[in-house]
Amino acid sequence: MRLDKYLATYAGLSRKEAKAAVKSGRVQVDGRTAEKFDEKIQKNAVVYLNQKLIVVEEHIYLMLNKPAGVVSATRDDRERTVVDLVDCAGRELFPVGRLDKDAEGLLLLTDDGALAHRLLSPKYHVKKCYYVRYEGVLSEDAAELFRQGVDIGEKKNTLPAELEVLGDGQAKLTISEGKFHQVKRMIAKVGGRVTALKRLTMGNLVLDDNLAPGEYRRLTKAEIDDLAGQ
Ligand code: URA
Repeated sequence: MRLDKYLATYAGLSRKEAKAAVKSGRVQVDGRTAEKFDEKIQKNAVVYLNQKLIVVEEHIYLMLNKPAGVVSATRDDRERTVVDLVDCAGRELFPVGRLDKDAEGLLLLTDDGALAHRLLSPKYHVKKCYYVRYEGVLSEDAAELFRQGVDIGEKKNTLPAELEVLGDGQAKLTISEGKFHQVKRMIAKVGGRVTALKRLTMGNLVLDDNLAPGEYRRLTKAEIDDLAGQ
């Protein structure tokens, strides 16, 4: 890997900052001061920046409290995306799954394709809990219908889901699939119209209350291990 890319990927520098760091003699590679920002270095090289060892993290995992009004994509010609909200630190991050543009809440951003694949795979039925605000009156047997599975126009009925009606037009719905607009379509099926939607959990990962919409933080090691084990 080129040294400037290494510094961008593992130390979060911009390419410009990386060049400047090398030029001013602040980068050591395997015990010698680096002279060229475009030199090739081994992935397991021992690199110091400003006399501090760069700890190589294979992947980055960010928990974002997605605000309404941004799209769950990496790039979009017209709209602001979730990736635009975070400092990617030289990584090619992508969202694990999608939340609708008007939805908020827990969204994991990572560059770990294998983990993302597993969390999204229909095989693993990873549970996701949503807080829902709705208009209208849900049918009395809505919870039972959701437990059994309902027809929302897909080939198969939905997998068993758990509805907890909180009163005052609010509910929590836990599903273990990710069909397009699934929560909105399920609520519509039992007589409601979703007016606000916020994802609270994904597997064992719980949205951090301290994150305001638009804020994000790195996952802790325990959270990463927990996700990887699911
Ligand atoms: N279900 C929806 O309807 N929308 C989302 O964004 C997520 C689940």
